[in-house]
Amino acid sequence: MHNTILNSEVFLDHIAIESANPKKIAEFYSKNLMMKKNCVSNSEWHCFGPNRLLIFKKGINNKLSCAAFGCKSERKLNKIRKRVLSERIKITEYSSIYLKKSSFSICDPDNNKIVFGVPLTRWSKKNKYHAPLQHLTLQSIDVKKIIDFYHKKLGFAISDRVINKNGVITTCFFRSNKEHHSLACFKSKNVGIDHHSYEVGKWKLIRDWCDYISKRGLTLFWGPGRHGPGNNLFVFFEDCDGNKIELSAELELIKNRKFLDWPHDARTLNLWGKSYLRV
Ligand SMILES: [Fe+2]
Repeated sequence: MHNTILNSEVFLDHIAIESANPKKIAEFYSKNLMMKKNCVSNSEWHCFGPNRLLIFKKGINNKLSCAAFGCKSERKLNKIRKRVLSERIKITEYSSIYLKKSSFSICDPDNNKIVFGVPLTRWSKKNKYHAPLQHLTLQSIDVKKIIDFYHKKLGFAISDRVINKNGVITTCFFRSNKEHHSLACFKSKNVGIDHHSYEVGKWKLIRDWCDYISKRGLTLFWGPGRHGPGNNLFVFFEDCDGNKIELSAELELIKNRKFLDWPHDARTLNLWGKSYLRV
């Protein structure tokens, strides 16, 4: 079994989320995450900043419309396509103004739409608030099914797992490049998005972001803290639809190591104490 996704150095390029009011949520990200907003139609808004792109489509609040993973060449994308076809996963050609024509989408066992493509060059003015979109975390009733799909069928590497006293996997972190995870999944009663995260790199920048969003009247939902798996510093806050946004720093970079199993307890999720357990 080959880690096709890991070997292709795939990264989270953008996500699309449904909202009952895409204009309102686009305004939220424009004001609070310093992103430019663009009205594509009455039912679709795009927000973009340096290395971060979000799409909001008219629909059900908090529902993932798609997660688009990018790779740097057509050659790498072709390897992923071949692997997907060899696993007999249905491929649908995918059209996006942000990706080359060779893009395609598949559906995971929870019916989340996952896109793979080669991103076209996007220009965005940089500022000191560096915060590239870095990972997406899902919720699923059956994490094992998610592992079978993303690890066994696609070739994401497992970085770490969290296991409860009954031996049930309650969280799994998936690696698609040197970063500890670009995708994760929590066991939950729900299916869909848990949160999405921006990797700001340095602790000092989390401070600056928190100062910025607090001046805009927002309140942290969780943190600051440090996750066990990934060893990253974090804060969480919510957008106007209740989508959870993470700002992260110091995420572990992995050269090559076997995954670790962590206990399902508060300290695993936050080495500094208080946690937000999904189950
Ligand atoms: Fe996260």
